[in-house]
Amino acid sequence: MESTDFKLAVLVSGRGTNLQAIIDHIDQGKLNARIAIIITNNPRAQALERGRKHAIKTTFLDPDRYPDKAEYDRALATKIKEHSVDLICLAGYMRILGKEFVRTFKGEIINIHPSLLPAFPGLNVQQKAIDRGVKFSGCTVHFVDEAVDAGPIILQAAVPVHADDNAETLTQRILEQEHIIYPNAIKMIAENHIKLADGKIVTL
Ligand code: GAR
Repeated sequence: MESTDFKLAVLVSGRGTNLQAIIDHIDQGKLNARIAIIITNNPRAQALERGRKHAIKTTFLDPDRYPDKAEYDRALATKIKEHSVDLICLAGYMRILGKEFVRTFKGEIINIHPSLLPAFPGLNVQQKAIDRGVKFSGCTVHFVDEAVDAGPIILQAAVPVHADDNAETLTQRILEQEHIIYPNAIKMIAENHIKLADGKIVTL
């Protein structure tokens, strides 16, 4: 396989700075991959504009058009299969994926989360880290399994939490690291440096 044949689907819901980091790494030749499709549940996601600027195909799948979450996930799976991607990257995708979807793409979905998992899964985690008084937080790239913000950890980066931090300053410090480790984690998978076996990361 040509390395640029490694195809990604990127799922987004908002701002899209992690999507941008992936696009930039590809454009700069640091990551041999291609984004085949960007999919969102939010038609106002700034991420869509980022994709369009780089002539990447974008699709809005409207949650209101499906009777329930399971049907939505099935439509999402169908859309992804149309593009025969190698890896599904959640980049600020704020819908929880159902068990059926996760089973269908077992070992082929990764996520970035703004904490040092397993600490602080869920939402508003930068504020939670400040409130808890931790001295370090960071970000985690992990394979997605059926639990939320869990699954085998691929890469993490730690940042200090300063006494005068607020959610915005800590978010920004963590985000800078997200933009480094997410493309690097994709690269590790694209270049076959790691794989998932029996729920564990194996280094090849
Ligand atoms: C990022 O901080 C990402 O880690 C987080 O959403 C933000 C999206 O920013 N994801 C989660 O919290 C998933 N549980 P972006 O749209 O600018 O990439």
